[in-house]
Amino acid sequence: MRSIAELIIKKRDGYPLSEEELKYFIESYLSGRTPEYQMASLLMAIFFKDMETEEISALTDVFVNSGSKISFPSEYQTVDKHSTGGVGDKISLILAPIVASLGVKVPMMSGRGLGHTGGTLDKLESIPGFRTNYSAVEFRNLIDEVGMAIISQSPKLVPADYKIYALRDKTGTVESLPLITASIMSKKIAEGAQNLVIDMKVGAGAFMQNIEIAHKLAGMLKSTGERFGQKVSVVFTNMNSPLGEYVGNALEVLETIEFLKGNRLRDIDVIVIELAIEMLLLSKTCKSREDAKKLIDQTISDGSALEKFRQFVKAQGGNPDICDDVSLLPQAKEMIPIISDKTGYINSINSRAIGYALIHLGAGRKEANDKIDFGVGARLLRKIGDRLEKGETIGFVYSQDRIQGVKMASELVKHYSITERKIETEETIIDSWCTDSPDI
Ligand code: URA
Repeated sequence: MRSIAELIIKKRDGYPLSEEELKYFIESYLSGRTPEYQMASLLMAIFFKDMETEEISALTDVFVNSGSKISFPSEYQTVDKHSTGGVGDKISLILAPIVASLGVKVPMMSGRGLGHTGGTLDKLESIPGFRTNYSAVEFRNLIDEVGMAIISQSPKLVPADYKIYALRDKTGTVESLPLITASIMSKKIAEGAQNLVIDMKVGAGAFMQNIEIAHKLAGMLKSTGERFGQKVSVVFTNMNSPLGEYVGNALEVLETIEFLKGNRLRDIDVIVIELAIEMLLLSKTCKSREDAKKLIDQTISDGSALEKFRQFVKAQGGNPDICDDVSLLPQAKEMIPIISDKTGYINSINSRAIGYALIHLGAGRKEANDKIDFGVGARLLRKIGDRLEKGETIGFVYSQDRIQGVKMASELVKHYSITERKIETEETIIDSWCTDSPDI
């Protein structure tokens, strides 16, 4: 075996590393024999030289085998959903109870806010009492009893990713597609889901800003999952406008409850339906898209999906009464209108800047140990293509302090670009790599 320095040079010069070499390197780093500066050098070499498909699988395998794995009874049809992250993305909170209420087992390991995006775990923790850290045994019990669970990654599962992700964050190597692939897929494989549906967000409020790069990452995720026997479907969805109306933790839980009560906002609805259909097909719960769509509409309209959400909140220690009384969720003291300063059509929305602005208001963390203010955020009523009149209310800021809220409202309005020319509204689903109806 070459030395650690020789392996760095090999990668730096553009040659692929074998599984044995990757295993040696990462085990040596995890055991403390190889220092952070050498691991950081290898990460930077991977960032610049990329990795071949074989190499990505090998790295994923090394990650998976660095910790424990979870498995579910073979008769379970498990499907997880992963989002690459966006602004106002509360899809997991809505989708999981819908498909779980139809008998699909949904084991989800989710993340916290990253960059300008919010995190599913932070949103859920805005529910009084809600708990997200569970052992593997407890996770399996939740899936047995409720049919769904949304928990945080435990350090025992894929410890290699746990340690290397923190180093990537400090060394400018988060954006490497092979490293993103190994990081995401190792957790999805170790968590034991047989099927995975990925919501690949594309656009101004997403990490993938154009479809070409989104296709490249999707290809890597899909081929890696399939090498480990996991079926992977990918739906590419528009992230130019913030999703739905609300951005902020408790506000997005409120919007989830509203949706499950039947108040289905169009952009959320289109994505939820597309992903839910795919989850029902992958799990062989339905034979066709049409059957799946009927079941989804029914489970929302007869209240079963909301009932599943209530059961899930209770099982994970949260107060289920939020479903009947949303004032039990944390709230901001002030609600300040956002007023349009121009007349015309919305040409673009700087969703990334909106995400960062709301983090500064307290809806996310600027530093890893910051405490989130769960009640703050914004309601944004208008989308790209909508017409605005000067002086019209286009949304609201929810803040704890009136002066800060007024400042935020005048900042947010600057992130809307207005034109006199009529603009077409945008498609919500950009592309889809999904199954045909499987034979049952
Ligand atoms: N999410 C992950 O889990 N890992 C990455 O590298 C990026 C997003």
